[in-house]
Amino acid sequence: MKKNLIKVCPSILAGDFGHLSDEAKRIEDAGADAIHFDIMDGHFVPNLTLGPKALSAVRASCSLFLDVHIMVYNPFDYIETLVAAGADRITFHFEATEDVDEVIGFIHKCNRQVGLAFRPETSFSFIPKYLEKVDLILLMTVNPGFGGQKFNPKVLEKIELTKKILNDQKIDTEIQVDGGIDLETAKLCIKAGANNLVAGTYLFSIKDMKKGIQDLKSCYVGIE
Ligand code: DX5
Ligand code: ZN
Repeated sequence: MKKNLIKVCPSILAGDFGHLSDEAKRIEDAGADAIHFDIMDGHFVPNLTLGPKALSAVRASCSLFLDVHIMVYNPFDYIETLVAAGADRITFHFEATEDVDEVIGFIHKCNRQVGLAFRPETSFSFIPKYLEKVDLILLMTVNPGFGGQKFNPKVLEKIELTKKILNDQKIDTEIQVDGGIDLETAKLCIKAGANNLVAGTYLFSIKDMKKGIQDLKSCYVGIE
């Protein structure tokens, strides 16, 4: 596996909300591939976070790809607003809507990348039919809602199964993991087949984010 195939997306949820623009610039200067931006509605998950106005502020302060992860019911209703606010990819939850295909279609119609996210406990059996329809599959490695949780190793099997289908069918959809990612868990995820790492607590708790990103990208070493 080549080093440049691993993408690292720091989650600004772990940053300083009093200085979001500075945090966005810091992530950009550290060489990240994207900023991961979490939006929660207090219903789909028991927490509230950032919204479209904060996304616009981040958009204005850097030119990095904005990877927006929405943990909200009725995702369809927010797409146009998020596109206008600067989202480059919108990842919504399979469990949050009965109109998964419609939401995928509308995001693509807006010329934005689509990600489809799955909670850790959601069965793998729901995943295969979407692999060709989206740009990225997000396999949550914690229950969505809060940063700083412990990585759930049970998700590794789901990553492996997903990667096997992508390989067998030569589909280039990305596999992203989000939650409890550090150097140790990143290695497990990459070995299982993930190529896109979201990391919040880890990257914001170390002194040198640039080195942290490089270290995460280097986790592929020794993996076939
Ligand atoms: C959790 C969010 C994550 C969160 C990850 O629901 O989707 O993006 O920021 O944070 P860490 O890396 O702290 O687990
Ligand atoms: Zn997230």
